[in-house]
Amino acid sequence: ITLTVFVPTHSKSVKQDEESKQELEAYIEEAKKNVNPRYRLTYHVSAPVGWINDPNGFSFYRGRYHLFYQYYPYDSKWGPMHWGHVSSTDLATWEYLPTALIPEEEMCFSGSAVVDDNDRLVLMYTGRLNTDEDPFFTESQYLAFSDDGVNFTKYEGNPVLQSAPNGSPDFRDPKAWRHGDYWYVVIGSQNEGHGRVLLYRSPDLIQWEFLSVLGESEGDMGYMWECPDFFELDGKYVLLMSPQGLEAKGDRFMNLHQTGYIIGDFSYDTFEFTPIEEFKEIDFGHDFYAATTTEVDGRRLLIAWFGMWEREFPEAEDGWAGAMTIVRSLKLDDKNRLIMEPISEMESLRQDLTQVKLQSGDSYDFGKAVELLVTGSVDEKISLLFEGRDGGAFAEVSWNPAVGKVVIDRNDGDIRQVEWEPADSFEWRIFLDTSSIELFCGGEVVFSTRVYALGGWRVSNRSSQTLNIRSYDLKQSIFS
Ligand code: FRU
Repeated sequence: ITLTVFVPTHSKSVKQDEESKQELEAYIEEAKKNVNPRYRLTYHVSAPVGWINDPNGFSFYRGRYHLFYQYYPYDSKWGPMHWGHVSSTDLATWEYLPTALIPEEEMCFSGSAVVDDNDRLVLMYTGRLNTDEDPFFTESQYLAFSDDGVNFTKYEGNPVLQSAPNGSPDFRDPKAWRHGDYWYVVIGSQNEGHGRVLLYRSPDLIQWEFLSVLGESEGDMGYMWECPDFFELDGKYVLLMSPQGLEAKGDRFMNLHQTGYIIGDFSYDTFEFTPIEEFKEIDFGHDFYAATTTEVDGRRLLIAWFGMWEREFPEAEDGWAGAMTIVRSLKLDDKNRLIMEPISEMESLRQDLTQVKLQSGDSYDFGKAVELLVTGSVDEKISLLFEGRDGGAFAEVSWNPAVGKVVIDRNDGDIRQVEWEPADSFEWRIFLDTSSIELFCGGEVVFSTRVYALGGWRVSNRSSQTLNIRSYDLKQSIFS
């Protein structure tokens, strides 16, 4: 008989010290004044100052959406992780709240949020401790509670889930949800260098029981699966995750790490997940990772880190680095593909409408934050150049019907392309922010790519057909 006993490593109260919280907020207020605004995004969440990576704890609590993020306020590179915090009533306009989690002996790695039976917002996150001995770190699951959605107190009995069943130190990014009488959580891990996702359940968020290995690489699916998420969608189950170490295959899996999904069937009786499709990427751009979802009023909402590990972040020299994508909603199509669309609330940011007929060779100067709706003929080539009105970086977005692929090319030798089957009448939706492009060629082909243009967007039609562009200036919806 194997007995699993969860022994908390430190039972002393780790209530976050009020003084250090206030000092941090005072530091942020001061330091953000020195941020250079040239690449600053106006409707995407980024840190007021410093570094961010994964979105965390995406949730809805007492009438407001909450979004947290992996945060290091003291430098524009990764450091001991905090949880930054923003909140919104409509997912389009965001307000900064005080930093929710401050690292103490544990760094506060990624995780999720649920509303418990006492109407508290509960954060479940990975506490990462560095050690002096091989494997040099341990990862366990921690809780923090809030009665107001603003101030969080770490649970005294942390950690609530000490270690993976096989003892792997890689044991992180809990995504919790409620089903029936239990809380469930999926956690990213690995077994002998094969990425896997573990499933647990609990009656009270405190006592956890290991249920199953929900999915595991058979050798070609990476060495570690980060940031898992698991949910029902349109009658199937979706295992969303971010595997590390997938090898590129043709046009696919070109990023250092991928974010994608496996569609399958699942039973809450056997806790077995049976894939019916292979792993697929969910976004084909350069900068998309660690996506996470939440369900509110029957709508499955997704947000991701608009970034990637080991990339250069040109904004780092300006005092900040990293951002979130816009929020997208998910559905499944009849080919078992995830369809990802901008949420309708994004339309609330629309201001003046401009209609442009862009003839071959013509350019048009737009602002820094615009939504473009592009139409033309898919039977001919389409090519649009996006560049800064004052220079900086640029990207070409193109479609070649003879090849059947949409391509985004920043002229840096690292192009991204994917097959696209256009409907007879098509409309590309393109969200431009100061230094980013999100291209929706329909919900099945989406590219999220940072492009560091300067001084607003100049868009040129490099194809021989005339393209019609409707454009809306977008309101600034996040202020730091
Ligand atoms: C994913 C990730 C997570 C981890 C966090 C640390 O990008 O590596 O697995 O919890 O970032 O910041």
